[in-house]
Amino acid sequence: MTERTKREWFDDDAFWVEMYPFMFSEQRFADAAAAADKLATLANPRGKAILDLCCGPGRFSIALAQKGFAVTGVDRTAFLLDKARVRAGRAGATIEWIQADMRDFVRPAAFDAVISMFTSFGYFDDKQDDLTVLRNMLTSLKPGGTCVIDVVGKEWLARVLQPTTSESLPDGSVLLKRHEIFDDWTRIRNELILTRDGRTSTFKFHHTIYSGQELRDRLELIGFRDVRLHGNLNGDDYGPRAERLIAVARK
Ligand SMILES: C[S@@+](CC[C@H](N)C(=O)[O-])C[C@H]1O[C@@H](n2cnc3c(N)ncnc32)[C@H](O)[C@@H]1O
Repeated sequence: MTERTKREWFDDDAFWVEMYPFMFSEQRFADAAAAADKLATLANPRGKAILDLCCGPGRFSIALAQKGFAVTGVDRTAFLLDKARVRAGRAGATIEWIQADMRDFVRPAAFDAVISMFTSFGYFDDKQDDLTVLRNMLTSLKPGGTCVIDVVGKEWLARVLQPTTSESLPDGSVLLKRHEIFDDWTRIRNELILTRDGRTSTFKFHHTIYSGQELRDRLELIGFRDVRLHGNLNGDDYGPRAERLIAVARK
């Protein structure tokens, strides 16, 4: 993987190790498996080659491979790719796993669809880097290929965001979440404080938040066409009730 001098929060492998149990619960794997058909319908790729950018432990990669797609999963975090390999092996799914930063991975005209799921877009302190990622996605698609980007939408956050919430998790631990919007309503800073068996761990991360129009504008700026916005994987419109912002666009 290309070495960068600037380290950002997502470069901390310990973050992903510690977050794993509740970011990637068995329920989350089941949700992805149940959603794979809807995702495939929404992407409507003309062929079988799919790039799962920021695939993590392979929730969508494995589910799509089991549906007959030829999946390449790319992620920066070796720990998560190892988890993905193990799960794919258990599921009997053959997938190409690549450790790379999303700013670097490009394979020209190789894929029928590129997916970026579960708010894996918008991580960089330099917002130009997000455009680099979109350009990489466009380059990696075959002509007519589709990209699907699934993030938390700014409109939804504006409606429901509470500065502090707390919840009890099934294993008895307590999760306190603190959120702060900053940088002229363009970013969110999150602090998660997990107390388990008397031990407290704190995780901090921040990312850019996009409104539907802002994401559409960036996709069009890079050269995507036929941009559609949805509020869920059923393909419902992106509207006041939308809990997700899902952009689908063609090369
Ligand atoms: C919220 S997780 C989503 C994982 C997966 N898409 C899913 O739906 O389960 C975000 C993923 O982005 C990866 N990631 C973070 N920064 C990255 C970067 N700069 N390049 C590539 N992957 C990155 C993390 O390792 C993690 O797997």
